[in-house]
Amino acid sequence: MYALEINHVVKRYGSFTALNDINFKIEAGEFVGLLGVNGAGKTSLISSIAGINNFEGEIKVAGYNVISEVVKSKQSLGVVPQELAFDPFLTVYQALKFQSGLYGVKNNKEWLFEVIERMHLTDKINSNTRTLSGGMKRRLMVAQALVHKPPVIILDEPTTGVDVEIRQSLWGFIAQLHKSGHTILLTTHYLEEVEKLCNKIIMIDKGKIISQSTKENLIAECSTLPTTLEIETQDAKFIDSLEHLILKKDGSSFTLKLENNEQLLDILNQFRDAGIILENINIKKPSLEDIFIHFIHR
Ligand SMILES: Nc1ncnc2c1ncn2[C@@H]1O[C@H](COP(=O)(O)OP(=O)(O)OP(=O)(O)O)[C@@H](O)[C@H]1O
Ligand SMILES: [Mg+2]
Repeated sequence: MYALEINHVVKRYGSFTALNDINFKIEAGEFVGLLGVNGAGKTSLISSIAGINNFEGEIKVAGYNVISEVVKSKQSLGVVPQELAFDPFLTVYQALKFQSGLYGVKNNKEWLFEVIERMHLTDKINSNTRTLSGGMKRRLMVAQALVHKPPVIILDEPTTGVDVEIRQSLWGFIAQLHKSGHTILLTTHYLEEVEKLCNKIIMIDKGKIISQSTKENLIAECSTLPTTLEIETQDAKFIDSLEHLILKKDGSSFTLKLENNEQLLDILNQFRDAGIILENINIKKPSLEDIFIHFIHR
């Protein structure tokens, strides 16, 4: 049995096809990153899994069909949606209690307190949700998705607008959930997040899957991409002689392709010999973002 099964899923908004025959399976205990540029179809897919969207095809959560076994599939799933939405008249604790009621969960006070603490919301427990900051609201969204301890958790950009410190503690909490056996699907635009947490990566573009692989395979693919040297200089003339190495040119910033370390020394020496001052030097190893672009264009 799979934690998540997506079979031939098509999602149309009128005549526009946002998801075009999506197929994948996630095994119990996996931590999968779902990557794609804005508008790729990530939220459309998550809304379909959550039963918010109507769609063509078949989706199963923990073996339960999200259409024909809606109660069981919903009980198996916790979704942290991308858009913030709360009842503005409830306090933090009431919101979580109410959410628990929706799943028919009672006597979970201890768990709610634990989740509240892990989300750093303890001092806001009796505050109205209206009065929370954006980052706090985002953390409450995560807490809401966890009230019924679902085996499958989907997070749609949970760390957007959350400051660095809280983001790291959120990562710690999500990693702990994964460790304790939860299956996790995460979308994010922070590639560091994917590198830290996920062991499998699915990339979608224009409603189609363009790659499915383990993180290791992806990193191996990464090793075929060049290390780059970013420099800033006002003197564009000399750079022309290194034209064949230029990957990107943006005003006074240049990105050069580096084949090896000797080449780096050679380039820097050429600048020095020509008396050209470099205002900024930055050596960059390929990131997952570079890989993503590489996959889109391949
Ligand atoms: N309710 C809707 N009606 C019409 N078109 C929609 C609707 N929701 C999404 N779309 C379109 O479907 C496509 C996929 O949108 P979706 O929100 O799934 O993207 P996404 O990958 O989540 O992007 P982002 O990274 O910006 O959150 C986009 O072109 C979007 O405009
Ligand atoms: Mg989205």
